[in-house]
Amino acid sequence: MSKDKLWGGRFTQPTDKFVEEFTASIDFDKRLYHQDIRGSIAHARMLGKQGIITLSDVEQIVHGLQQILQQIEAGEFDFSISLEDIHMNIEARLSTAIGEAGKRLHTGRSRNDQVALDIRLYLRDEIVGISTYLDLLIDALLNQAEGNLDVIMPGFTHLQTAQPILFSHHMMAYVEMFRRDKARLEDCLKRVNVLPLGAGALAGTTFPIDREYVAEQLDFPTVTRNSLDAVSDRDFALEFLADAAILMMHLSRFSEELILWSTSSFRFIDLSDGFCTGSSIMPQKKNPDVPELVRGKTGRVYGNLMALLTTMKSLPLAYNKDMQEDKEPLFDTIDTVKGSLKIFADMIREMRVNGDSMRRAASLGFSTATDVADYLVRKGLPFRDAHEAVGKAVGYCVENGMDITELSLAEWQLFSAKIESDIFACITVEASVNARNVIGGTARVAVEHEIQRAREGK
Ligand code: ARG
Repeated sequence: MSKDKLWGGRFTQPTDKFVEEFTASIDFDKRLYHQDIRGSIAHARMLGKQGIITLSDVEQIVHGLQQILQQIEAGEFDFSISLEDIHMNIEARLSTAIGEAGKRLHTGRSRNDQVALDIRLYLRDEIVGISTYLDLLIDALLNQAEGNLDVIMPGFTHLQTAQPILFSHHMMAYVEMFRRDKARLEDCLKRVNVLPLGAGALAGTTFPIDREYVAEQLDFPTVTRNSLDAVSDRDFALEFLADAAILMMHLSRFSEELILWSTSSFRFIDLSDGFCTGSSIMPQKKNPDVPELVRGKTGRVYGNLMALLTTMKSLPLAYNKDMQEDKEPLFDTIDTVKGSLKIFADMIREMRVNGDSMRRAASLGFSTATDVADYLVRKGLPFRDAHEAVGKAVGYCVENGMDITELSLAEWQLFSAKIESDIFACITVEASVNARNVIGGTARVAVEHEIQRAREGK
């Protein structure tokens, strides 16, 4: 009855049509075809080397699989739902094409270790790809930082003007975040990069396989050390999803700032037209769709992490069909992160910076008040008293509708007799920025130093 099924031996009735559709994963796991074929070729070669199948079988299998690869890539492969997943679609086609030899491929292997292998191979390449996109974004940020070293903007806390900072310093904050994201992915890669094949269904195999030989062919530095764990572990995928969630959180914060900065109230930046859209009713509108959408997509990436964590929760060892649910969240996150990074790198590269608006905003809101307090400390006042005196001066300015840069020396001296005419040089935004010459501070030399370090990959 179940003649088309590779596992049909013990069954007498065909699978219910809807059950077949419901349980199939081919619609989404077909994207693992390349990894599946690569893994099968390595497995077949190992079986041949170990004398488990003949070298003529190996030759036919490898040739057959290479043809299937070409067919899939040419769009000539008919994926069948009744063959459930990519593994059985390929294996069934191989057997049809080459007969007996094809039916020997699955010796000493299970779909449980096979699927774990395929996901690891796939994710490994994708992590490298995502790292490359991160490099592009970091490079775009470094260029903006380097090209705008003269631009001073207000730094915020609580979204209230706090102290002047270099725009470059703000860009370099994101460089730090994305470099950490890269490092996290590199670390995750160590756990992805382990060969699970050889675990069999759950307990290993009775055949004298050579796992290290397979690992070598597939460029895995190590092999898994427990067969039960090898087929039931998805930690590596969860780790990736968590790393991706953090990365998207960074992109969402950046998005939010870009959206804010491009409003007519801020006018700090202009996103190029290619990254914005208009409104069908309001002719004046230029909407920052790209950062908005990236901010929005952060939600699905968080959701994907929760989805897989919840799928894996309480699963008994070893493989359970629940685990087939690992792929869609994983693929969706990979696609979303890659797309978001790519579009962000391009957008940042083309972003125009309105240095004048930023500077104007930086000198408002009493942004150099801390500098006056620090000035008084250098003149011998304890910091708390200095803070109090400057607070009173700010209150005076608020009352009289003026900025602290507009106070005369006589007015300053109402708040502290220690204030002298050198105060004026200390409350410009340039002086404020450049006074913060500590490692990691916003002084121009400090920022230039960090740009240099980041360029050198330090
Ligand atoms: N399509 C399955 C998955 O993605 C492959 C492994 C199936 N193994 C099994 N024993 N049914 O998880």
